[in-house]
Amino acid sequence: MTHPTSPDLWPESTTVVDGVLHLGGLSAPWLAQTFGTPAYLLDVPGLRRRAADYRRAFTEAFAPAEVSVYYAGKAFLSTAVARWVQAEGLGIDTASAGELATALAAGVEGAAIGLHGNNKSVEEIDLALERGVGRLVIDSLPEIDLVAARAAALGRRAPVMVRVTTGVHAGGHDFIATAHEDQKFGLSLASGAALEALERIVAHEHLDLVGLHSHIGSQILDPEGFAAAAAALLGLRATLVQRTGHLAGELDLGGGYGIAYTPQEQAVDIDALARSLAAACRAECERLGTAQPSYSFEPGRAIVGPNMLTLYRVGTVKPVRLDGGGSRLYVSVDGGMSDNIRPALYGADYHAEIAGRSSSAGPVPARVVGKHCESGDIVVRDVDLPADIRTGDLLAVPATGAYGRSMASQYNLVPRPPVVAVGEGQPREIVRRETVDDLLALDLG
Ligand code: LLP
Repeated sequence: MTHPTSPDLWPESTTVVDGVLHLGGLSAPWLAQTFGTPAYLLDVPGLRRRAADYRRAFTEAFAPAEVSVYYAGKAFLSTAVARWVQAEGLGIDTASAGELATALAAGVEGAAIGLHGNNKSVEEIDLALERGVGRLVIDSLPEIDLVAARAAALGRRAPVMVRVTTGVHAGGHDFIATAHEDQKFGLSLASGAALEALERIVAHEHLDLVGLHSHIGSQILDPEGFAAAAAALLGLRATLVQRTGHLAGELDLGGGYGIAYTPQEQAVDIDALARSLAAACRAECERLGTAQPSYSFEPGRAIVGPNMLTLYRVGTVKPVRLDGGGSRLYVSVDGGMSDNIRPALYGADYHAEIAGRSSSAGPVPARVVGKHCESGDIVVRDVDLPADIRTGDLLAVPATGAYGRSMASQYNLVPRPPVVAVGEGQPREIVRRETVDDLLALDLG
């Protein structure tokens, strides 16, 4: 590894000593020897700093309005991560019984947890109500009656938000853009469904309206969509107060803040984004003549993404001649699409560097591929690697923290890698390596 490490792309504590990558002062060869490969390596101080930074940026920009930040657990959740982000003053945004149970098992109190989902089960709704979850985000009209009925059955009132489809189209890929009309999430502003939901909730004896919610998409690098969505929500809030006299207390503007995956990309500047968004919200409230609400945010990727890398061991190395002339080095590693589905699913770009030694060999065009039975099993589509890369080398792929382990599979019955936390006490597995015995334990014969 020869290049200076970019803090946007690599975990905060990354250093390079004589060409060898270190995380939290521990060398990649030592980490590989101790925990095996592939492994996700998590820089805990970096994770905590980003959690604290996001909270500070939004709190300062929106002051004196109140701000809460919920870490979107779908990006990667374990009990240790829940405790670390909670210690930095964040709540947890969950989207399933599993995520909710993990946050609760970490000791996060229900009031600091939100529950999303376009198809929540009765069990998920009941668990949320029984544990005092602070906000259930309503995603459809039928869900209003379902949540109200469960609240009535449990003798409670349910605190709810309404997820509004604002019509803003943003996001790194169609699969992760979530606020245009033709997709499954939320209640449409344009069709009137969102207003109808709000009016029904306000009138319902078992429901408390916490506020309005918008999540426009993910891996967004252009901040304009956030302001457009916020303005749409503030307008809807003003309509609601006119029609019902109820002034919704909170606006949740979701997550989606983009990060760098390659040295060519730049992450969103969160301080600048928060300031311009806060100014837009302030101006819109003034124009509408309504008091400022409190605000909440749900960053996932931006908190955990850059603070994890995946460490692989190189297996076979194969030069392949290209049709148009020239050649490409295919470098196979001991993981692949089972530990990072994002290249196959979204065509996502990543970067890689050899991590265990220095090399003076010149760069050659390479493609890092996995060990699975598909030619689409690509880890890094295009990257220059040293011409002398060879079997046994360590390869580090940065920015795999978000939606890497959380979307990992056991395709080809390849056990999933561990998550190793570095920089807070002794390095340790916070999610252990899966074994073939784990896989066989699910097989009932
Ligand atoms: N809030 C809600 C309601 C969401 O649906 C999401 C992401 C977030 C917050 C967090 O978004 P973030 O800050 O992490 O961008 N698997 C895809 C991303 C799917 C995101 C789904 N929702 C990927 O790997 O890019």
